[in-house]
Amino acid sequence: MSNCRIHENFEADFEKVLFDEEELQGIVHKISEEIKQDHRGEEIVLVVILKGSFIFAADLIRKLFPVCYVRVEFMQVSSYGDGAKSSGELKLFLDIKPKAVKGKKVIVIDDVVDTALTLSKIKKRIESLGAQQVQICALLDKEEAHKIDIQIEYKGKSILNEFVTGYGLDFGQKYRNCPYVGVLKKEVYEK
Ligand code: XMP
Repeated sequence: MSNCRIHENFEADFEKVLFDEEELQGIVHKISEEIKQDHRGEEIVLVVILKGSFIFAADLIRKLFPVCYVRVEFMQVSSYGDGAKSSGELKLFLDIKPKAVKGKKVIVIDDVVDTALTLSKIKKRIESLGAQQVQICALLDKEEAHKIDIQIEYKGKSILNEFVTGYGLDFGQKYRNCPYVGVLKKEVYEK
């Protein structure tokens, strides 16, 4: 038997679904309308925070066509390692080139805001590279977990302070390909 085969149905690992595929598309549509209203006919740089935001960003950028002229850049940071609790320390694995954002209007695309420490550091980094404007766009926001004030110009949904998975979000690098966002069963975290 292949080592990759864990069990037959990963759906059984989920305790509940928070947002199904249709709801997620509705949320992405709402955000895209807000961005289009603010940036009609403009060039914007979307800085996509890997890995968790890649599916959200892929859906969002297509909804901005043909109203916004979009450039896409990627940053990869980690504050969680492979677990479900923040290590509090920001590691930068992939940075952007200064010329990609210098003098530009930038929107940082993130999956979920937790303590907000990561985004606040990312925002400062992009501002220090000379961006004209840096806005934040987050699919989900755990408002009650914030440890600092942060302005989120484009927000999908506020959620409770629980670990969520799917639609790009992982647990231990798994479940990113789940088409909905949900909460895993307790025993899955404890495995
Ligand atoms: P902070 O605490 O700095 O962390 O706002 C933000 C980053 O941590 C990850 N994160 C999660 N990832 N499910 C995940 O899969 C979650 O519930 C979750 N909460 C935070 C994520 O990478 C986010 O950008």
